[in-house]
Formats: sequence, C-alpha cells, structure tokens
Amino acid sequence: MNTEEIAEFDKKYIINTYGQRPVAISRGKGTRVWDADGKEYLDLFSGIGVNLLGHGHPKVIAAIKEQAGKLIHASNLYYVGPQVRLAKLLSENSFAGKCFFCNSGAEANEAAIKLVRKYMKKNEERRTKNEKYEIITMENSFHGRTLETLAATGQTKYQKGFEPLPSGFKYIPFNDVIAAKQAVDEKTAAFMLEPIQGEGGDRIASDEYLVSLRKLCDEKGLLLIFDEVQCGLGRTGKLFACQHSGVEPDIMTLAKPLGGGFPLGTMIAREEVAASFEPGNHASTFGGNPVACAAGVAVMETIFEDNLLEKAETMGSYLQKKLMALKEKYSFIKDVRGRGLMVGIELDFEGKEVANKCIERGLLINCTSDTFIRFLPPLTVTEEEIDEGLNILDSVLGEKR
Ligand SMILES: Cc1ncc(COP(=O)(O)O)c(C=O)c1O
Repeated sequence: MNTEEIAEFDKKYIINTYGQRPVAISRGKGTRVWDADGKEYLDLFSGIGVNLLGHGHPKVIAAIKEQAGKLIHASNLYYVGPQVRLAKLLSENSFAGKCFFCNSGAEANEAAIKLVRKYMKKNEERRTKNEKYEIITMENSFHGRTLETLAATGQTKYQKGFEPLPSGFKYIPFNDVIAAKQAVDEKTAAFMLEPIQGEGGDRIASDEYLVSLRKLCDEKGLLLIFDEVQCGLGRTGKLFACQHSGVEPDIMTLAKPLGGGFPLGTMIAREEVAASFEPGNHASTFGGNPVACAAGVAVMETIFEDNLLEKAETMGSYLQKKLMALKEKYSFIKDVRGRGLMVGIELDFEGKEVANKCIERGLLINCTSDTFIRFLPPLTVTEEEIDEGLNILDSVLGEKR
C-alpha cells in the first residue's frame, strides 16, 4: 500500500485519536526512516524517544530473533529468564530496587500508584489511624492516559471531558519547595514527578528541588516517585535523569526506550516498599514478555558497551550549542532548554506549523506544549546528522521572519 491508500484505510478503520501527519513510515535504519512511497526522513524524534539506539540496531534485532526462536510467551505464572536478566541490570545500575514489569509508561505509573497505597495501608495499620493515599504531582506534568494516570497528570487539557476523574491527587507548581511543604497534609502519601518534564517542554527539576523533596519525604514518612518514562535510560547523559542530582527515589518508572521498540515498562521500587505487594495484588498478562525483555537487555548492554551515556552528553552539548546559535539569529526563539539529548527551543508563537513544515522537508521533530519544538534523537546521532536537521529547521524558521 502507498501512503495515500494507508491514509484512506486509516481514516476508515482506525479511531482518530492521534491527529496524525500524512506520513506512513514503513522502514528504518539508524537515524533514517522511509515512508511507504520511498521518501527519506531524518528521524531526530525517535518515535517519541523510544528508538534510543536508532532504527534496526543489530544487537537488538539479534536478541529479538534469538528469543523469538526460543519462546515468545509463557506467562508470569512461571519464572521468566529474560525478565530476571533485565531486572538485575536495572537494579544494579539504579538504587538496588526490585522490578515489576508491564507494557507501557502509564501502566508503570499505575503500578506505582497502587504500590504507594498498599505501602501506606500496611504502615498505617502499625502507625496511625489516618488514611494516607493522596499523591502530590506537578503542574505541567504528564504521567499517562489511563484514568488514574490522567488524574495524576497536572494538565487540565488532557483531562477535559473525562470527568469524574479518580480522586487522590493534588497538583503543585514545579520547582517550588515552599508549595511542596505547604501541600503536605494528613492524607499525603507521596510526591510523584518527572525529573525532566518531557511533554511539558523539557523543564528540568532543579537539583535543590529534588534534594528538598527527598528531605521532606524522609521527614514526613512519604514516598518519592520519579517518572523517568521519557527522561530515563541514558537520554540525558546519565542512565537516569535523577542521577544528575544524586537523589534516589523510593519508586521509579521506566518505559519508552526500555524494550528497544517492543512495548515494555517497569516500576522499580526500594525493597522495603516493594515488599508491600503480595501475590495477587498486581499483574499483567503480557508484562515483561520474554522477547521485549531480551530486547531490553540488549538495549542496556549497548548503552554501556558503546559509551552512549558519554555520547548523549557530547552530542547533547553540540545540539544545544547549535540551537543557541539559532536563538541568536531569531529573536522569536525565547529559550533553549533541556539536558543531554532531550532538548528543544521555546518559540513565542505556536510551533505546530514549524514542526509540520520540517516533516514535509524530511525532518521528524515535534511540537509540545503549544510552543516548544523538541528533539529526542537516538543516542547514536552524529554531528553531521544534527547539522542536517538544523539546516532544515533553520530554513523553516527563516520563513517566519
Ligand atoms: C513522563 C511520561 N510518563 C508516562 C508516559 C505515558 O507512557 P505511555 O504512553 O507508554 O503509556 C509518558 C508518555 O509520553 C511520559 O512522557
């Protein structure tokens, strides 16, 4: 099928929730993809940060082929070898926690929300009569599209039309320590935040803020959850974005790049917290699928073997430097923000048309938060590819002057 035919059948048979661009990507290699008509694109968005190693990475393909040839699915009613290998890698390289595997970021956050409630309930029986279940989240955050994670998300535009939302969340301004302290009451169980708000336009939680939240949680007996679904796994130049501040959470969630493109998410929890879940409390039929986890092991091993954390930092600095040069050139660029290879520019007008024009000219990027043009390139991106992409962006921005 060519693009026109795919578009026609999409309109007929697929529920229209995505507001898609008229592009049908059918093949990818490294930082390049091709659509169904053979047109080439430079992909500096990696499928919203999923294709961390670029498209068709040989180690990921080999791991998938090998595991698919052995076993595709058996069930979590039995031990799953690839899950254990991936959990060991994640635990040893984070905060020695234990993993629950699922299929997406929203599901990982759902697991975290449920675990918080279970943990508090267990402790309440010992400590106090108050019911602690409320989770304080941030304005401008994004935690997923299930009803519970939608309620956790501090942006009304995603919630409108889906009321009544589940209760148990309270929103505070991001990076405001005083607001955090004032928000805690007898119902508070946890804080949940993205160390870098992705959908919110690459807004970084300051080191001081994360340190203060950790201290507050320790003083009040609350749990600290980091949603690293978008910023985790090397994107910012460290394996986890929270490692820039040295602050460890009690629970961390991951997804997007974890399965090398296969649906895979996980919630990692400190052992004492994880122990609140008992058999039967939580489950997922497909969660931690052997093929997805084998791909996940390949992703993590490649990050280390190919020094991709260092690359994320050097290529990220290069991209930021180039974006700063664009800011000098165009007064309508208000800000250059982000960390590592999670960066973008804030425009003083709506950026959707800019992103669309870039796509038409062969560059895949995206606009979020109305005015933020963002890049989430693979960690394998080269200086030449960054130059090529920014030339396209420059040509589009030049028409705005
Ligand atoms: C920080 C964050 N959390 C959660 C999610 C939801 O992940 P998923 O779409 O895999 O459910 C996203 C998706 O963009 C995200 O950026």
